[in-house]
Amino acid sequence: MTTPYRAIQWTKQKAYFDLALLCAVFLYLTLFTAISLARIARPDYPEIGAVVSRALATLALLLLHFVLAIGPLSRINPAFVVLIPHRRHLGVVMFLVAMAHAGLSTVLRHTGGVLNPLASIVLGNGQIVSPGEWPFEVFGLAALIVLAAQAATSHDFWIAYLSPEGWKRLQMLGYVAYALILVHAVLGVVRESRNPLFAILLIAGMVVLLLLHRKAAAIEWARDRETGIPDSEGYIPVCPPEHIPLGRARIVRVGNERVAVFRYWQGISAVSNVCPHQCGPLGEGGMVAGCVRCPWHGAIFFPQNGLAPPPNDQCVPTFPVKLVDGCIYVGPAPFPLGYESHPLPVPGQKGRAASVAGQIQSERGVVSSQRKPAGLELPAETAGEEI
Ligand code: HEM
Repeated sequence: MTTPYRAIQWTKQKAYFDLALLCAVFLYLTLFTAISLARIARPDYPEIGAVVSRALATLALLLLHFVLAIGPLSRINPAFVVLIPHRRHLGVVMFLVAMAHAGLSTVLRHTGGVLNPLASIVLGNGQIVSPGEWPFEVFGLAALIVLAAQAATSHDFWIAYLSPEGWKRLQMLGYVAYALILVHAVLGVVRESRNPLFAILLIAGMVVLLLLHRKAAAIEWARDRETGIPDSEGYIPVCPPEHIPLGRARIVRVGNERVAVFRYWQGISAVSNVCPHQCGPLGEGGMVAGCVRCPWHGAIFFPQNGLAPPPNDQCVPTFPVKLVDGCIYVGPAPFPLGYESHPLPVPGQKGRAASVAGQIQSERGVVSSQRKPAGLELPAETAGEEI
């Protein structure tokens, strides 16, 4: 990205979401603490601290479930796609809550002894006398380190720095953190010999997450299996043009890649299904003012050459397409990045002489974001800002 670094760019929608999230966090912590303390006759300070720590811990875990569920949910039902742009703020809030729990627990349990707090966490406070005394907090500490790395690299700057694939891999470590937290929480509850209901809820949460991911994966596998037999040039059959609604795409598997074949006013173009911003599924989005729009964060690209409108400098690979016997075929290899291809004309479909996207493209290089045509809202993401 060549645009200036801005730490946080709140849109109205994001500000409302964050406000609602903070209210929910406050409400949960207050209710959990009040209800738990009401059951203790005369709580002393350490007891109050332990209750607040548990309120923070359970809230962090709840938020983590929510963060991990948004991806598969949006695959299963597009209505959940609206949550994707909020996933990053949710993740950061979850990390801050987890950190508050870790900090409070450390103060309560590891600051009064001879060992320094970190050594005390790792060595289990020197109290390991039976398997129940395992230093379960080490797992929490390891999870916290992973979550910290993710929160620290959540800005778009890091996507450009680490590459979208590298950044995505780092985000996938969230599942490692989740596993560590499960072990930490289960061992912690066992050690404290508390009501097993919490352990049952933990397992239920894990099962729900597994089922959601399985269902989302099954949808993708089913789509991949639909891939037809390539012709002599290696082109993959897609479908007749009329099977793709105007302004939408059909996703097909081409080799190891997924390609989104879009039908729009000028004809048909094919782009990689992977958005270079955060690897969102471009083909599940629609088109705005002649541009392909990623459903996750609203990054937009010209379908003919894969370039993003200025000032963004991202680019998505495009693929050759042809029409044979009324069926669209997509080529096996992408064009060189930024290659200007012509949309494949659709017989019987009247194209607009000059689309908004066409106008911008012809002006590309001199157009500025101030001169963007009416109706083409360039989202914050496409200008390289935090989302
Ligand atoms: C340095 C890091 C951490 C330390 C020292 C720590 C410490 C503790 C302690 C002492 C308990 C038992 C509390 C009790 O039952 O009264 C606990 C439980 C728990 N911790 Fe952590 N923790 C850490 C990190 C984390 C992280 C990153 C998470 C992420 C969500 C987490 C989630 C939980 C959960 C869900 C429980 C069970 C809550 C319950 O007892 O009801 N912990 N932790």
